[in-house]
Amino acid sequence: MSSHVTRKADAIDSVIRARKTTRAFRPDPVPRARLAEILELARCAPSTFNTQPWRVHLLAGEAKRALSEAILRAHAANAVAPFSPFPEPPPPECAARRHDFGSRYYASLGIDRADMAARGRQTGRNFQFFDAPIGLIFTIDGTLTRHSWLDYGLFLQNLMLAAHARGLATCPQVSFVRYQEVIAATLALAPEETVACGMSLGYADEQAPVNRFDMPREPLEEFTRWFGFDRDPA
Ligand SMILES: Cc1cc2nc3c(=O)[nH]c(=O)nc-3n(C[C@H](O)[C@H](O)[C@H](O)COP(=O)(O)O)c2cc1C
Repeated sequence: MSSHVTRKADAIDSVIRARKTTRAFRPDPVPRARLAEILELARCAPSTFNTQPWRVHLLAGEAKRALSEAILRAHAANAVAPFSPFPEPPPPECAARRHDFGSRYYASLGIDRADMAARGRQTGRNFQFFDAPIGLIFTIDGTLTRHSWLDYGLFLQNLMLAAHARGLATCPQVSFVRYQEVIAATLALAPEETVACGMSLGYADEQAPVNRFDMPREPLEEFTRWFGFDRDPA
């Protein structure tokens, strides 16, 4: 590989490897121009027939506070049916990884897994965008199907990597989906708009213990099957 190619690979590899979910932020504001720059990169994502199914609602200051308060009220009243992003029970290997995530997450916060009240309070932190200065709500036309949701994932990853490359941290958040109705009312969503997820964005509080645990990944052998590679052309 030429040194130019190596440098490019090094740059992108380090961004991919170093991005991690952040759940405690410093209050420092993020300029609007920086957000626009990140979204310009996110929109480069490929999509099925170039349909670009994303729609992004950006919140700061009073608007962010108003949405947080509305959701936190609903969360405290527990009036909305719980939403699970998984079938119950999930496939066993996913269940095991989810359990491992929960163990690491709650341990970092000093929360006993059996303490459901403390866990509920921590879930509520999602709706304060973990004190990040920027909250994002991502919506999609609810009539679209799985391939468009796949497209959405590519968009979100572009966004998170572009943010990371600029010293900004993110937390993608499925937890907002439960509060579709509250979000629709507060942000005056169009009737077809379905909340795909939310996201907190800002500068990481590097000292916070909740930002200091890493999630492991399965080794390649666990999720790959290789055909026709008996003799590697090198
Ligand atoms: C679509 C999506 C939704 C997520 N929703 C939440 C959430 O609601 N709250 C949260 O704290 N983390 C959420 N996460 C973060 C995952 O827990 C995290 O990505 C995973 O544990 C791997 O850790 P890493 O991102 O630090 O590599 C979500 C991640 C994705 C991709």
